[in-house]
Amino acid sequence: MTEWEGRGLTRRQAITRGFAGAAFVCSFRFDKLARVAGGRKSAAAIIASANGPFDPFLVDVPRPPVKLPVKRTATHDIYEIVMKQATANILPGLQTPITGFDGIFPGPTIQATRGRKVRVTQVNRSGRSMVVHLHGGVTEQASDGHPMDIIPDGTQRDYDYASVQRGGQLWYHDHSHGEVALTLYAGMAGMYTIRDPAEDELALPQGDYDVPLMITDRSFNADGSFRYQLDLDMGFHGDTILINGAVAPRMKVEQRLYRLRFLNASNARSYNLTLGNNRQMIQIAGDGGLLTQPMRRTLIPIYPAERVEIVVDFRQFGVGSKVVLHNQGGEATTQTMMRFDVVKGGAEEARVPKLLAEPESLPPVNAQRNFVLGFRSSGGAQWQINGQGYDMDRVDAMPRLGTTELWTFDNQSPHPHPMHTHLAHFQIQSIDGRPPSIAEASWKDVVAVQPGAKVVVRPYFDYFTGLFPFHCHTAEHGDNNMMGQMQVTV
Ligand code: C2O
Ligand code: CU
Ligand code: CU
Repeated sequence: MTEWEGRGLTRRQAITRGFAGAAFVCSFRFDKLARVAGGRKSAAAIIASANGPFDPFLVDVPRPPVKLPVKRTATHDIYEIVMKQATANILPGLQTPITGFDGIFPGPTIQATRGRKVRVTQVNRSGRSMVVHLHGGVTEQASDGHPMDIIPDGTQRDYDYASVQRGGQLWYHDHSHGEVALTLYAGMAGMYTIRDPAEDELALPQGDYDVPLMITDRSFNADGSFRYQLDLDMGFHGDTILINGAVAPRMKVEQRLYRLRFLNASNARSYNLTLGNNRQMIQIAGDGGLLTQPMRRTLIPIYPAERVEIVVDFRQFGVGSKVVLHNQGGEATTQTMMRFDVVKGGAEEARVPKLLAEPESLPPVNAQRNFVLGFRSSGGAQWQINGQGYDMDRVDAMPRLGTTELWTFDNQSPHPHPMHTHLAHFQIQSIDGRPPSIAEASWKDVVAVQPGAKVVVRPYFDYFTGLFPFHCHTAEHGDNNMMGQMQVTV
């Protein structure tokens, strides 16, 4: 009854992962076994590894708590979050030090409603300065979390979110310049959903059947702490996948439709989502809310900071089925992401309509810009845009409010770059000359630009003027200066 596709369990169990420098006898032994077997598992290794600290499907997927407002006014929902250090229970019997919003990883989920403004008071007791950015937010400059707008330790800051945009799955994270790789890795990320009352009429799965799933990768030291090693080229890649902060968890589901909101909050790793034996996933939304129409897919790539929302119809599986979500193409220990255990039947009223959102008519293109993505190794290694690293005193683009532009990202480096714009969402126009799919043409704020590729996007500068960054969302690239600034003017 388990859809393994003949790979998940077995290959994953050929453990080449383990604690760094650990006297962890079993992982050491399996390490050797795997090497001797040339990476192929033996049945003995699988059995012997039962109940290892990285074994999959031992815990239920955690649901980050939904944050309750400290106050609701006629116009506002007001929240208070405390950034602090704490420990998390990720590996059995070990405590993992983290830094998190409210001291948890992932941070609490904020559920905003389109049309109701949100204020979040961020209290910084983390021991270092922080900046909070609402990723995907159409936000005025003062609340956007510009990398230089820091909250010193021991102080607090109010962030005002306008809630003017379409419904969608956003997230919030630290944006301290040059240090996002470390703070994100330490746990500074949470989900933020904007619910659109118009969406409620669509009869998509709601409530318990609408589940945010944050994907991250980590490595561990023997004492359970996160292990980090800087890789300026590739960005950090961990050997263990966590979903909502748990190692390859299981999720009990009914025979119903589920809306799964995936966020890739990893520093640098991208994933190729596949479900069971290449089952269909119905993508309904991307970074910036609903697609115009649902798109059936059997493999969905998700790059750092991207969001992908899918509906899975678990009525196609019998009670007792176990359906694994894989990362196709991952290494031995990063292929298995989580498992859905179909535990009972259920009446279903939800459905996926043929039309999800009206295509919007956009204002005309007002300017074209070209951004060459590259690397300079002489005179201090850094990632660059148009031959320059980030300079907070330089403006790289001056779009006019209420217009659209065509931006070409031209990747002349050997690594992919998930390029992200603050404030403005965009639609992909072309990828190396080919037209976009329905999902690619939908509203997005991150686009993966493959090595050697040219991607043209059409950002819409709406609602706010001001100074906003755009950057590569591989955390190690953005930190090491792959960032520019735009000044949106009237
Ligand atoms: Cu999620 Cu400026 O980034
Ligand atoms: Cu952002
Ligand atoms: Cu990059």
